[in-house]
Amino acid sequence: MRPMPASAAVRVRRAELSDLDDLVALEQATFDSDRMSRSQYRRHLDSASAQVLVASANHRKFLGTAVVFFRAGSSVARLYSIASRPEARGKGVGTALIAASEAVARQRRCRALRLEVRTDNAGAIRLYEQLGYGRIGRYAHYYADGADAWRYEKTL
Ligand SMILES: CC(C)(COP(=O)(O)OP(=O)(O)OC[C@H]1O[C@@H](n2cnc3c(N)ncnc32)[C@H](O)[C@@H]1OP(=O)(O)O)[C@@H](O)C(=O)NCCC(=O)NCCS
Repeated sequence: MRPMPASAAVRVRRAELSDLDDLVALEQATFDSDRMSRSQYRRHLDSASAQVLVASANHRKFLGTAVVFFRAGSSVARLYSIASRPEARGKGVGTALIAASEAVARQRRCRALRLEVRTDNAGAIRLYEQLGYGRIGRYAHYYADGADAWRYEKTL
């Protein structure tokens, strides 16, 4: 992949079945544990309680993804997962995915978006705090490898 110009406009759309290969490849390249499987992604694509988003820019059709979960009767949406392709990081893909996730949550009349992040994931923490997320708690041993998580929330 050639480097993406910093000025490329990032667009975010709903994921489709044809994105499955890219979604699974990015998941495998990004996360060592707690990975989402192909069948889980496939289920989320069709589910009313999930929204899978894909970021693209110009002719590069797959730069990253975010997965948002909704629960019936709850006004709090959950940003379950976010990742941008390693070659595309630091160029606004993550920011665009979070903005789109917030827009989707607002459309679903949610009052807040919550997320968990590994306490050692400094890059992601910086991004969330920069975008107005506030720390609301900590989960001990949250991840499969025993790592703790911070919980963050933003009022929409
Ligand atoms: C976290 C992640 C989604 C950010 O995506 P991105 O496309 O780089 O995000 P953006 O370009 O919009 O935002 C960059 C901002 O995030 C922060 N940031 C991202 N990566 C960083 C890093 N390695 N070190 C420090 N800050 C970082 C910075 O605040 C940066 O803002 P700046 O460019 O103004 O300094 C991406 O790094 C990623 O996929 N990481 C691996 C997966 C992951 O950790 N996901 C989150 C937990 S589920």
